Amino acid sequence: MLFKNSHLLSVTQLNLENIQTLFSLALQMENFISYRHHKPLLKGAVLANLFFEPSTRTRLSFGSAFNRLGGAVQTLTDAQTSSLSKGESLEDTIRVISGYADVIVIRHPMVGAVAEAAKISRVPVINAGDGAGEHPSQALLDLYTIFKHRQRDLNNINHLKISIIGDLKYSRTAHSLAKLLNLFDKIEFTFVSPEALQFPEEISQTLQKRGHVVRNTTDLAEGMKHCDVLYMARIQEERFPSAIEAAQYKGFYSINRQLFEAHCHPGTIIMHALPRDSREGWQEIHQDLDDLKNLVIFDQTDNGIPVRMALFALILDADLQLLQ
Ligand code: NCD
Repeated sequence: MLFKNSHLLSVTQLNLENIQTLFSLALQMENFISYRHHKPLLKGAVLANLFFEPSTRTRLSFGSAFNRLGGAVQTLTDAQTSSLSKGESLEDTIRVISGYADVIVIRHPMVGAVAEAAKISRVPVINAGDGAGEHPSQALLDLYTIFKHRQRDLNNINHLKISIIGDLKYSRTAHSLAKLLNLFDKIEFTFVSPEALQFPEEISQTLQKRGHVVRNTTDLAEGMKHCDVLYMARIQEERFPSAIEAAQYKGFYSINRQLFEAHCHPGTIIMHALPRDSREGWQEIHQDLDDLKNLVIFDQTDNGIPVRMALFALILDADLQLLQ
């Protein structure tokens, strides 16, 4: 079993059997989200939630999932208020915190930093985003959302047509989701991005080697046609060398109701890891799509709770008999 006492650093650690195990448990966990029906599988356990980059959903979702199972959450959100600002290394910080907690969730701006922390930690570490690298739990909840739309059957994900649109160079959620979909058969990927923000070539090559179809285009309309899933990725402004360079891409790809109705088939679902950029002129998903049932962005955030509950229960080897 991969999960028990393991770190989760990249989706490439997972196979289909692991995903089946996780999703079956996540479906069960949906019954225990409400406090009236909660199951304190992790009573007495402590999570250290270390976020060295901004976060709303991921931090609160990990925390809430842990709390829902009866565990306690310790949080560090700002390097400025921790001893890192006194020159302490991340290594020493992790060495210390792994004596305080049973599991550590880390978000860090540098690719690879979470994997480095995991080498030092005495308890399992979950990567909650390492720069433009990976964001495995987000990919799992994204996949779980697709799985629920496909009769809760992983076989129905084979042959999926997915268009991933936006800043594909820096979007770690796009990287992790594509790598996770690599486990299935004959996926059709259409990557829509500005020339300078293309999807990483080495991931594309891995996908092609496994027999998936990979198309790259700059044309939004082409990406919107013939897809089952339209996955929008925000321009990752914080990863650009300067705000001026990021601003070149302001509103570069912006979908609204009129475009959706003109190009997509009625069954297409629209996904986004969130936050969507709501600033005037940037909006990659216009609010006039909000009352369309095809927009599943808030199903994704809801799904983060049972998926993370299941992840914690498996990693910490909780007594699943208590769910009976
Ligand atoms: C994403 C992230 O941080 O990579 N957000 C999230 O965790 N839900 C996506 C983004 O910031 O665009």
